[in-house]
Amino acid sequence: MRAILYKNQDQGFILSDNFERGDSRPDEIDVRVNAAALNKRDEFILQGMYPGITENVILGSDAAGWWKDQRVLINPGLQWGNSQRVQSSDFNILGMPTHGTFSEWVKVPQQNVYPVPTHLDWEQAAALPLAGLTAYRALFARGELKPGQKVLVTGGGGGVALLCIQMAKAIGASVFATTGSEEKRGRLKDFGINGTVNYRELEWDKELKKAHGSFDLIIDSAGGDGLKKLIGLTKPGGNIVIYGGTKGKSDGISPQLIFWRQLNIMGTSMGSDRDFREMLELVEQHGIVPVVDSVYPLEEFGRALERLKSKEHFGKVVIKIHES
Ligand SMILES: NC(=O)c1ccc[n+]([C@@H]2O[C@H](COP(=O)([O-])OP(=O)(O)OC[C@H]3O[C@@H](n4cnc5c(N)ncnc54)[C@H](OP(=O)(O)O)[C@@H]3O)[C@@H](O)[C@H]2O)c1
Repeated sequence: MRAILYKNQDQGFILSDNFERGDSRPDEIDVRVNAAALNKRDEFILQGMYPGITENVILGSDAAGWWKDQRVLINPGLQWGNSQRVQSSDFNILGMPTHGTFSEWVKVPQQNVYPVPTHLDWEQAAALPLAGLTAYRALFARGELKPGQKVLVTGGGGGVALLCIQMAKAIGASVFATTGSEEKRGRLKDFGINGTVNYRELEWDKELKKAHGSFDLIIDSAGGDGLKKLIGLTKPGGNIVIYGGTKGKSDGISPQLIFWRQLNIMGTSMGSDRDFREMLELVEQHGIVPVVDSVYPLEEFGRALERLKSKEHFGKVVIKIHES
């Protein structure tokens, strides 16, 4: 079968035309992949910036396709374990070190497969799992967001961030975002956003505070110098939930601003099987549609990757593998 393989650090990825699939384990089923979505981890693996990189592994964590006569999507979080608080030491993500979804077929444990919400097409369904799970856990399981609260999402044009915005709006929160271009600020208006600011402005935090005050919850994937600004933008007793570190380490953070104002700063990653089920329920109930930035055939995986790296994308970059 055709598949995108991580080859090694010199060659990067290759498109194999006749990859031999091994036998299935007893708990595994075969899903015929219709669409698969890219994530930052695919980019990081190809740059050698990921733990446990193994050669000749099919990349890709997200997919939607057919299992028998059912339209299904895949929870890419494998072996989360029983605790809702933290994943087990066996937790791993589909698409490294196990074979992933950028291929015509993928083997997954049956318990990781769920019916596609009926309002989603193949590309939208493929765009949902990893980003939707991360967004859901960040907002609700960790951030404890409630209707009527004010939430700030940093980098609003990203795959996870957009789903945070959509989910938070769906439950009746007031939602604000930072983003990196005036064009993206304009596009965020389509999602009923209550206010935006461009993080490329030097004093974006002061601008945001002047216009909209402080926030009950902040969801961040940037880190870096921006984190100390986020601490200043959080209401006393408020929560900051961090799921990424795009801008690297954070200097200049004042402990006094954290302890005196009783702030909760916490990390989150992916989510439990329960988080995944609850995420799907929320998406069904509110008819949430993940934003697909662009769609490429498997043969143009390289172009899809360049699009993800360009920082110009708005939402998810998707690979179409079978038409129907
Ligand atoms: N812990 C987890 O389970 C988990 C899961 C998924 C992703 N992540 C991590 O989260 C990050 C985003 O992932 P993604 O899949 O959403 O990627 P993506 O779709 O490529 O989005 C990239 C994001 O980075 C934002 N950004 C870039 N520079 C920024 C800055 N200076 N300040 C604030 N935001 C900035 C972009 O904002 P604009 O487009 O609005 O400019 C956009 O939200 C990555 O680091 C990824 O590894 C972690």
